[in-house]
Amino acid sequence: MESNLQLRYQDESVAGLPGDLVSIESEWKSPSNIALIKYWGKFAGQLPRNPSLSFSLKEAISSTKVVLKPSPDGIFELTYQLDNQENRSFESRIKEYIESLFPYFPFLQESSLSINSHNTFPHSSGIASSASGMSSIALCLCALEEKISGIERGIDFFGKASYIARLGSGSASRSVYGNFVSWGFAQGFKLSSDEFASPLDFTISPSFKSLCDAILIISPEKKKVSSSQGHSLMKNHPYASLRYEQAKKNFTLLMKAIKSDDVETFIRITENEALSLHGLMMSSDPGFLLLEPASLEIIDRIRKFREETGTFITFTIDAGPNVHLIYSLDSRDKVLDFIKTELQPFCFEGNWIDDRMGEGPEEINS
Ligand code: PMV
Repeated sequence: MESNLQLRYQDESVAGLPGDLVSIESEWKSPSNIALIKYWGKFAGQLPRNPSLSFSLKEAISSTKVVLKPSPDGIFELTYQLDNQENRSFESRIKEYIESLFPYFPFLQESSLSINSHNTFPHSSGIASSASGMSSIALCLCALEEKISGIERGIDFFGKASYIARLGSGSASRSVYGNFVSWGFAQGFKLSSDEFASPLDFTISPSFKSLCDAILIISPEKKKVSSSQGHSLMKNHPYASLRYEQAKKNFTLLMKAIKSDDVETFIRITENEALSLHGLMMSSDPGFLLLEPASLEIIDRIRKFREETGTFITFTIDAGPNVHLIYSLDSRDKVLDFIKTELQPFCFEGNWIDDRMGEGPEEINS
């Protein structure tokens, strides 16, 4: 069923390109994000089965430039390059995504687009580029629409960019904002919606204001099971409804912890979410296992270090074996030392990425 927002965005859309247009362009940098409350399971139109919560990263960024020209024969065409090189498999995924956006951006149907993306993180780092990549494209398309219509940027610009990014990749909806971002309807949270993400509407307590994320690379390989396969395995998952209840409760508890400076609850819920996500993967039919022995060794060592030193460190894991070590900037020296001596030997070729919470996307004005 079409939502009110969908109808509104379609009604307000810019129909065609101005007759005298030669070329326009837009460029954005947009971050990847790391989920603490996981989105795992969706329904029609990339809507989430439960609310999720992430924070945006600072260093893991996609920069995307979109150049739009009127198409010579009036039919949509696209060229896509990653790091100035053609990439056919991404190109067909992006083409399908952009064609699905014609109801929102009808002017695209008569456009020739050239998209050039660059990721700051290596392709072999195991970091999914869909959140940063899709959100940067969505921001460019919204900015192009704005330029064509000549209407000044309104307060809904990022809301719409989040909505459009969501249609490309669910987690990308959260990348259009900085710091902590939630996505998915949650009882008692005014701004929450399944259709777009929102920044938190309360003050973040001191312990969580400057979180760091050391991404410990266990394997640089492409995921054995894609997140879309994982989402669809949730449809017949025996624990699906319990999982969605658990995620809703965890979301509420984590929001409270972030508000009230409750580090203990933050750690408990963050780790519960990471391990529950992988528990769901193992108990899907067919079941699959993305954790590696080194992931488990690292988890054990993080917990032991916390017990022994009382340092605020915790971990989360996405749909892969890499462990995200989350800690506060205050204990950076101690944690860097711990990573170097105890964790780096378990990383693939000693690789880890030094990242932290970031301020969100940035428009590049040429
Ligand atoms: O946005 P997708 O379809 O790639 O799914 C993301 C799933 C997780 O990364 C495992 C969790 C999340 O909320 O980001």
